[in-house]
Parts: sequence; structure tokens; C-alpha cells
Amino acid sequence: MSSTTGFSTTADAGPLTASASGPLTGTIRVPGDKSISHRALMLGALAIGETVIEGLLEGEDVLATAAAMRAFGASVTRTGTGVWVVKGVGVGGFLEPEDVIDYGNAGTGVRLAMGLAGSQAIAVTFTGDASLRRRPMGRILDPLRRMGVQVLARSQGRLPLTIRGPDVALPIEYRVPVPSAQVKSAVLLAGLNTPGVTTVIEPVMTRDHTERMLAAFGAGIEIDKGEDGERIIRVEGRLDLKAQAIRVPGDPSSAAFPMVAALIVEGSDITIESVLLNPMRNGLIETLIEMGGDIMIDNRRTVGGESVGDIRVRSSRLKGVVVPPERAPSMIDEYPVLAIAAAFAEGRTVMEGLGELRVKESDRLSAMAAGLSANGILCEEGPESLVLTGGAVVAGGGSVKTHLDHRIAMSFLVLGLASGQGVTIDDAAPIATSFPEFSTLMTGLGARFEAMEPTAR
Ligand code: S3P
Repeated sequence: MSSTTGFSTTADAGPLTASASGPLTGTIRVPGDKSISHRALMLGALAIGETVIEGLLEGEDVLATAAAMRAFGASVTRTGTGVWVVKGVGVGGFLEPEDVIDYGNAGTGVRLAMGLAGSQAIAVTFTGDASLRRRPMGRILDPLRRMGVQVLARSQGRLPLTIRGPDVALPIEYRVPVPSAQVKSAVLLAGLNTPGVTTVIEPVMTRDHTERMLAAFGAGIEIDKGEDGERIIRVEGRLDLKAQAIRVPGDPSSAAFPMVAALIVEGSDITIESVLLNPMRNGLIETLIEMGGDIMIDNRRTVGGESVGDIRVRSSRLKGVVVPPERAPSMIDEYPVLAIAAAFAEGRTVMEGLGELRVKESDRLSAMAAGLSANGILCEEGPESLVLTGGAVVAGGGSVKTHLDHRIAMSFLVLGLASGQGVTIDDAAPIATSFPEFSTLMTGLGARFEAMEPTAR
């Protein structure tokens, strides 16, 4: 049933098989960081002047944010050289969109956009794909309601839903109840058009790209440490933002896939250039090094206020480890691919504190457990944990359901590259949300992928 070889773009929907591959070698760059790309377009849309963005991730999620910012009245264009230019409308200057904003698969995009739009006196209806329509939005709607936003939503606060911002939003002090950069960011962004000071208290620190970028755009932002180590972030509203030139570093959450692939495919030696090394995104590298991974970082430098470096990875004999739950915020998106590394590690790997994985693009805990079991890997799924026992040889041969989840799709393709009988995923299309170049880059390193015809329904 195989049809084409040399599969080169993940825009093609349908099944894809990854087979045992020779050593992966070469030097690549992964696309721009997704979190920073969303934020660059959003703050550009509120700023006065022209924000120029180099290295923007051109994945579907970020393109949805570009479309949303246009719908709010900003001018967002791509030049012939791939640089993006955003002309903002000024804080408080969003127009009411004429149509529903369809955010596709993008949880970060829709949640941050609700924050941005929530403190403006406009009505906006948001929707998304089947995955996004299942994800909880109450965590964003609760603080927005306290700021005076009216919400018309289905039961349980799922998309599609409509928000209407008040004439003048109320500044709040909000303690983030789950460790979530999206919730923190939505409240801070709503604070930009709220008179007075909006305060977010973060008991557990999460990725801080919003704070860094707000400071760069000249927002009135202050960060303090509370007595018990909490972070207290204050943003003063109704101040102008100044357009910026932004260079987006490579996404560590995308680099994670070739990194793990190089560790588990024998004889591999690859370098991934210009990857973001923000400490709140570094948990996977830390864990893989503890597992015995041969990973070296060269050429550390600072680009646009973020630490960046080149990562060299050589194949390694890995051993199982216990991953401390406190590390979860710095590697929250990397557990699926860490589980693949763990499948090839001698002994048990224990991952705990993973409750948030159940509300990502899919229920990642159960999607991982099902995919691992289908490929002959011993694993136990707990309510908030995954424990698996690995070994140097993995049979593979399984079929994996990706549930519209790009990271589940890429993780199991990586597994296939080092397993005896390969691995087939049911749908490669979701990969384009965050890493459209995935199969081209991986094939260039020596990975074997083969597109399959969808099975008849
Ligand atoms: C993101 C925050 C994380 C992460 C997501 C990107 C962001 O989500 O999983 O991929 O850019 O703020 P949570 O805030 O829900 O943990």
C-alpha cells in the first residue's frame, strides 16, 4: 500500500511511516520559536510603528495569529525575503473583527488573543479545530470575567465562544492557579489596555517570553519576588508600546525531535544551530544529559534578549532516570519525545507531575501510553505520571493515532527511525502547525520516511 517515497512536506495529510535509518548526520536550523513568534506578532499589532520580525515560524499556528491580528486591524505582511512587518494599531485600538476568528489547532494563539481582545470594547467570536474545541478555556475566561469581560460560551467554557470587553476594564490581582504561561500571558496582555496596574502572581515560574518582550516594547512592567519565592508581575496599562526589530531564535521544542533522533539512531552526529536556550525551556536538555546523552552547546550568545546556542548531539547509550516534577514547566511540551528517548534507555524512567499533559493538543499521557504499548514498550500510565522501562532494542511495527497532535506525530516518527520494524502514524498533517519543515530536515539528515495511502474508511 505504500505509494510515494521522498515525502518532503508534511502539508500532505495521511499516514506516514518512519523506518530504521542509518546514522543521522549534518547541520540544520529548526524554524523560529512558536511562543516568541505568536508574541512578536501580537505585540507588534498593538505597538505604534513598524515591527520587523526575522525568523518568524511560518507554521499554521502562527499564521493563524497573523490572520487574527489582521482581523483586529493591524497590517501584517511578509516581504519577499521572508521578513514579516507588522504595523500596529496602538494599545486599545483593536477593531471589531467582521467574522469569526478561527484559530485552528493553536491553543497559545487563541488564549493570548482572548487576553489581548478582552480589555477592548469589542465583541469577538473564537473557534478552532476539533482538538482546540475540546481544550479548557475557563482558565482564561475566569480572570477575564473579573476584569469585566462578558463571555458567552458553551458549557464547560469550550470553543466556540464569544467575548465582549467592557468600555473600561478593571485591573485585577490574579494568582495563576495552574502553572501556565498562557494564563499568565493572557492576563498581562489584557492588562495592557486596562487603566492602573494589573498584577499576576505566579507561584511556579513558567516560560517568561511575554515578560521579556513586554519590557523590550517599552511596556510598564515590573517583576518582584514574593516572600515564598512567588513571582509577582505588574503591568501598567494604557501606555504606548514601541515597535521593535525582533530576531526569533530556533524553537527548542522543535529541536527536541532531531536531538532525540540523533541520540537513539546509532552512529549519529548532528548540529542544530541557533536554538533558544531560555532556562525555562531547557528541561529536556538537562534530562537527556542526566540520561547520559552526549550533548554539547557551542557558540552561546544573546540574540534579542534571549540566550541562543548551537547544539551538537551524538548517539549515546542512555539510562533511565527519575525526572523531578518541578522540572515540568521547563519541558512541558517535551515529555512525548522524552518518552521516546526513555524507550531506548536502560532501566526505568519515571515522569511525574504531568497532569497538564492531559489538556494539550491531545490527552498526551494516554496518547503516549497507547503508542508506546503498540510498539512493544512497557509503560504504566498513572493519572499524572508515566513510567516506562526501556532497553537498547525496540521492536516497533505499531500504528499510532496522533489525535491532531503535532508532537505525538513527530515523537512516534522519531521512534520509528531506531526501531526494528518502523512505526506508522495515522496522520502527518498536524506537524505543519509547528514544524512544517520537519520531514524535509529529517530526511536531509538521513531519516527514512515514506508516505502511505490512507486506509479506506
Ligand atoms: C506556551 C505555554 C505552554 C506550552 C505551549 C506554549 C506559551 O502551555 O505547552 O505549547 O507559548 O505560552 P501552558 O501555558 O498551557 O502550559
